[in-house]
Amino acid sequence: MYLDKFGVYPEDYKQQEAADAILMDYVASEFEKLTLQERANAIEKVAAKIKTCKKIVVRKFIINYQKVLTGAGLSTAAGIPDFRSPGTGLYDNLAKYNLPQPMAIFEIGFFKKNPQPFFHLCKECFVQDYNPTKCHYFIKLLEQKNHLSVNLTQNIDALEFKAGISRDKVVMAHGTYETATCQKCSKSYSNDFIKQALHSSDTEVVVPKCSCGGVVKPDVVFFGEALPQSFMSTCMSTVIKADMLIVIGTSLAVYPVAGIVDMVPIGIPRVLINRERSGPFLENFATEFEDIYIGGDIEQAAMDLAEQLGWKSELEAEYNKK
Ligand code: OAD
Repeated sequence: MYLDKFGVYPEDYKQQEAADAILMDYVASEFEKLTLQERANAIEKVAAKIKTCKKIVVRKFIINYQKVLTGAGLSTAAGIPDFRSPGTGLYDNLAKYNLPQPMAIFEIGFFKKNPQPFFHLCKECFVQDYNPTKCHYFIKLLEQKNHLSVNLTQNIDALEFKAGISRDKVVMAHGTYETATCQKCSKSYSNDFIKQALHSSDTEVVVPKCSCGGVVKPDVVFFGEALPQSFMSTCMSTVIKADMLIVIGTSLAVYPVAGIVDMVPIGIPRVLINRERSGPFLENFATEFEDIYIGGDIEQAAMDLAEQLGWKSELEAEYNKK
């Protein structure tokens, strides 16, 4: 028997370790209960806000000022990877392209010199058909029930339309993969043209080329390119008048879209539905906004909100229709 330098008998360590483990389990389960309770409270609060969302009559049009801002996290449940999730996000899986840095694959300067990596990625990610997620259908329900003013999205997959959200409600801030344009003569192409080129060889990545010889690039906005005019006009005309903002599935890392969260009028509820806090939701101190955070999985959040709103069976029916 001996005492170590901390004056503790070795056998006591084991007892202490066992006691610590019980305590840690207890603390973890209490913490989880607290987090689940906070989440349940947040779901209830957001559903109540959605229900009471104002309809404001402006020049004979009934306008509902609720905005939804979405990012790649909205489509991960459809099988499309996001960009920044550690391990599964695109930026962690581009080593094989030998890029100077992961984001180069979406930089217009790099693309002009070497379009191959981008089309290689398209061949891997965008040639198959994807189906909308439950959360896409939740946004559709928001529209059907007159709660949606605009769905601003950074996503290029156009799953919003497949879910049935009206085209005039969606602003694709980072462009779309549905159409493409020749970088030399500006001729427009449909996405089928890109698909055909990418399908034309099993072994090689064929860069889609126009009859003039120019590279045909999907109409997605690359770093270094301007955002569509519709983004700016939406910011000016509707975002600044929002009476509620719901942000879904985005790290809020890329501007100017991330800046939307700070453009809405002071005092309105801003909701983040995302696996982790992002952007201004990272800070938990009081701001001039009413911030509500719903953590965990987006699909679960969509179902929980739908249940709270009495829309669960409709959401399930829409989702199962596909
Ligand atoms: P990110 O990949 O940066 O962020 C996606 C967020 O969604 C992360 O915070 C994830 O944790 C979260 N997420 C993913 N799946 C989820 C799930 N099932 N449940 C809950 N949370 C989930 O994607 P964006 O913010 O959309 O731009 O990225 C913004 C822009 O950066 C993209 O439009 C793209 C990229 O570079 C361009 O390429 C121009």
